[in-house]
Amino acid sequence: MNQQELEKKFQDRIDKGEIIEPKDWMPEQYRKQLIRMMSQHAHSEVVGMLPEGNWITRAPSLRRKAVLLAKVQDEGGHGLYIYSGAETLDISREEMVGEFLSGKAKYSSIFNYPTLSWADMGAIGWLVDGAAIVNQTALAKCSYGPYARAMVRICKEENFHHKQGYEILATLMKGTKEQREMAQDSVSRFWWPSLMMFGPHDKDSPHSSDLLRWKVKLFSNDTLRQRFIDRTIPQAENIGIEIPDPALKWNEETRHYEHGEIDWNEFKNVISGRGICNKERMKARRKAHEDGAWVREAAEAYAQKKVSKAVAV
Ligand code: 3HC
Repeated sequence: MNQQELEKKFQDRIDKGEIIEPKDWMPEQYRKQLIRMMSQHAHSEVVGMLPEGNWITRAPSLRRKAVLLAKVQDEGGHGLYIYSGAETLDISREEMVGEFLSGKAKYSSIFNYPTLSWADMGAIGWLVDGAAIVNQTALAKCSYGPYARAMVRICKEENFHHKQGYEILATLMKGTKEQREMAQDSVSRFWWPSLMMFGPHDKDSPHSSDLLRWKVKLFSNDTLRQRFIDRTIPQAENIGIEIPDPALKWNEETRHYEHGEIDWNEFKNVISGRGICNKERMKARRKAHEDGAWVREAAEAYAQKKVSKAVAV
């Protein structure tokens, strides 16, 4: 079969809802798109440990500390899980991490905002992990087998992350005036950056047409964003938290919330490295990578020794 026939056969498989596995034929562009998306997803999970890690030693109780520790550990595991999934596309962990550390690869904009109060642990769990759940439950049905399967396990853990965050805010909203103000301030800071997690508007998304055609994305950026808004507003009302968008209005006809416009200049600045914490996050990740060099070398040496022993026998 020539290239055109191969591509047609591949698209027929996708259109029939078949799952593509690592050893299956795939267009080079499909492989490249998956590597880009999965590696950046994994980078995001690992960088996402930093803003929350900042509060582990300052959690208000042993219970809150234990829950936050578990969540941050989960995020690290999600990163390793997705890196392993991406490695099935014939790219090494070193290459992906190298692209991240050099600044060539992105990670989610949301992690470039500072965590200024304990309430931010609530807002991140409720809003950031809430947005992740909307996105990742769709990805759990995407066309690439290893990515879809990784999402199944990750979504289960995200649900725990989401619930613990919402419970932090619900508790604060039943607390003192200062605690209620702290929770409100946090949600006001994290609401719009959480909407940016779904990417630019569909009309401004260069990758969506490929990804939708190949059912890597099952829904567009704007569709998932709207789904997140529609499910989150009632939760906010439930605990008395105000969403910082004066344009927010329920539309009985469309059965969706109308909302204000995202500050796309802020979005562009943050994804181009000019956010509040970009430099700090990258410095922390580069230092962690350097500090971990001895572990990688020791593991490499051990693996080499095992191989030479096996060959000698
Ligand atoms: N932050 C950083 N970069 C973003 C972004 C964001 N919020 N939204 C879009 N971009 C980038 C894209 O990566 C792309 O840049 P590139 O060509 O250099 O890769 C460019 O902006 C154009 O955007 P597109 O919409 O065309 O790109 P995609 O089609 O890839 O859509 C996406 C962006 C919605 C983030 C999609 O890649 C995706 O769904 N990725 C998988 C999920 C993911 O990565 N989530 C990140 C959060 S991790 C997380 O939530 C952890 C949880 O535990 C809290």
